[in-house]
Amino acid sequence: MNPTTPAPRFAATLGRLAIVATLSLAASTASFAVAPPADDSRAQLAAGKSRFDKLCVSCHGADGAGKDTYGPRLQNRPELSETQIRTRIVEGKHGDHAMPPWGSVLDAQAIEQLVAYVSVLRQPSAAQADAPLSPFDLNEPDRIEAGRKRFAKTCAGYCHGHEGVGGRAPDFKGRTDLSAQMAFDTIFHGRMTSDVMPPWGDALSEEQIWELVAYLQYLGRQPLE
Ligand code: HEC
Repeated sequence: MNPTTPAPRFAATLGRLAIVATLSLAASTASFAVAPPADDSRAQLAAGKSRFDKLCVSCHGADGAGKDTYGPRLQNRPELSETQIRTRIVEGKHGDHAMPPWGSVLDAQAIEQLVAYVSVLRQPSAAQADAPLSPFDLNEPDRIEAGRKRFAKTCAGYCHGHEGVGGRAPDFKGRTDLSAQMAFDTIFHGRMTSDVMPPWGDALSEEQIWELVAYLQYLGRQPLE
């Protein structure tokens, strides 16, 4: 199983999807001219998380868990105000125990995405609640169906078996222990255990990966015959 083999087919698919996405974005902008869709804030959070994963986890830990890290924990910090968060991200901190300033590196939109994400992290419930940062509702039948098709094409043949059962890898049906975020991270980064799962983060868009997650979560809700 070579993760790079199917790339050309994905590239073509991605190209088509980009066109579809652009068209549907244009359509939704028109119809939501007055009230923005709730999906906007999910998309902002998802963008904030992926930026946080690149720029901030080295010091604050995954999802700001801050265990044995140089930077402080950001989870479960209700006392941090949104203004404090924004100011710290923009200005950083000089002197002892410094944090780099991002105000001159990132544009305003990127900063707001990070502020939105950290503002969710700091809430006491966020640490426990397994609220996946998917840009759409993982229970949407259309997304599950898209994920099912992609799974059949991409994942079943390689390792996971039809409907995620009976392949070389663990079954997905009836599984309740696999959180959406964990599934996303595993698909995106791959996994290096005794049996290697290739990373798909370069071959698939985040949206496509979330559709796979929607399908896996759906499988998890099905009884194992
Ligand atoms: C080089 C390590 C480092 C990186 C990278 C870093 N931080 Fe920090 N961060 C720190 C340190 C150290 C502090 C504590 C500064 C202090 O003592 O006030 C901090 C503080 C914070 C605070 C305030 C928390 C508090 O307890 O007051 C926020 C919010 C924050 N960082 C967000 C971020 C975000 C978002 C990113 C990514 C864009 C980021 N940090 C990247 C080291 C880092």
